[in-house]
Amino acid sequence: MNVGPGLEGVQAAAEPGSEWAERAYEAIAPVYDDFTAHHNYELWLGELLPQLRRHGLSGRRLLDVGCGTGKSFLPMLARGWDVTACDISPSMLELARDKAGDAAKLSVADMRELPVFGEFDLVWALDDAVNYLLSAQELHDALSGMRANLAPGGLLLFDLNTLQTYRTFFADTETVERGGRRLVWRGQGSSEVAPGSVCEARFEAEAPDGETGDVETHVHRQRHFPEAEVLNTLTATGLECLDVFGHGHDAVLKQPLDELTHSKVIYIARRA
Ligand SMILES: C[S@@+](CC[C@H](N)C(=O)[O-])C[C@H]1O[C@@H](n2cnc3c(N)ncnc32)[C@H](O)[C@@H]1O
Repeated sequence: MNVGPGLEGVQAAAEPGSEWAERAYEAIAPVYDDFTAHHNYELWLGELLPQLRRHGLSGRRLLDVGCGTGKSFLPMLARGWDVTACDISPSMLELARDKAGDAAKLSVADMRELPVFGEFDLVWALDDAVNYLLSAQELHDALSGMRANLAPGGLLLFDLNTLQTYRTFFADTETVERGGRRLVWRGQGSSEVAPGSVCEARFEAEAPDGETGDVETHVHRQRHFPEAEVLNTLTATGLECLDVFGHGHDAVLKQPLDELTHSKVIYIARRA
C-alpha cells in the first residue's frame, strides 16, 4: 500500500504489535467528532439493541472496548447502563471524560492485552475499532480478552468494515469542512482490494489560512477480516457466534452478509 510523501516514518512503524493505532488516534483526536459528526448512533443502536435483546440480553453492565470520544457509550449511559470503557488513545479518552465526567469508568487499555475489568452483560467494540488489529493473532488476543470480561450469559458485539468499504472509502478522498477546518481523508487503496488486505488512508487537517494547525498528518491502517477467519477465531477463543449481519449506511441489518454491497458486518457472540 502506498503512503503519501512525508509519511514514510509512520508507515515504518505501522507493523503489527506497534503502537501505530494509538499514534493515529492521538493525532486525529481534536477533530474526530467533527469528522464523524454524521455518524448516527441512535439509528445504529435502534437496529443493534433489539437483536441483542432477541439473544437474551439482560442486566445493565457495559464494557465498551475502543470507546474513542464516547460516542459508542454515551447513548447507553443515557439508557441507565453502568458503563466501563477503554481505549488505546489517551487523548480520545480525555474527550470521552470531558463528556461523561464520573458517570463512566474510563481507562487507557490496549484491546490486544485487555485487562479483566469485571463481569459485563454486554461487551462491545463499535465503529471499526477491531479493524485496527492487523493480524489473525491480534484478533485472537482481543477476542480472548473480551471473552474474559463476559458475565455468565453475557453477549459480545463488534462490527468490522466490509470489502465494499475498503474498495470505496479506503480508495476515495472524502472532505469534511467543519469548525473552520478542512478535514481530508485520502484512501490509498483501490477498487480491487483483496479479502484480508491491510489498507491505509492518509488524514490531513487544514486551518482556513492553509496551516495544518494542531492536527498532524497521519495514516490510518486497517485490516479486512473475511467472515470465515472471524468465525474460526471466535471458535478458537471459546466463543459461539450467534448471528452475523451486514448493513449499509442506513444501518438496517440484513442477512446474509454481502461483502460487496454492505459497508459493515456485525457479529454477535457469547461464551461457548
Ligand atoms: C473509529 S474509532 C471508534 C470509537 C468509538 N467506538 C465510536 O464508536 O465512536 C476506533 C477507536 O478504536 C481505538 N483503538 C484502535 N486500536 C485499539 C486497540 N488496540 N486497543 C484499544 N483501542 C483501540 C482507537 O483509539 C479509536 O478510538
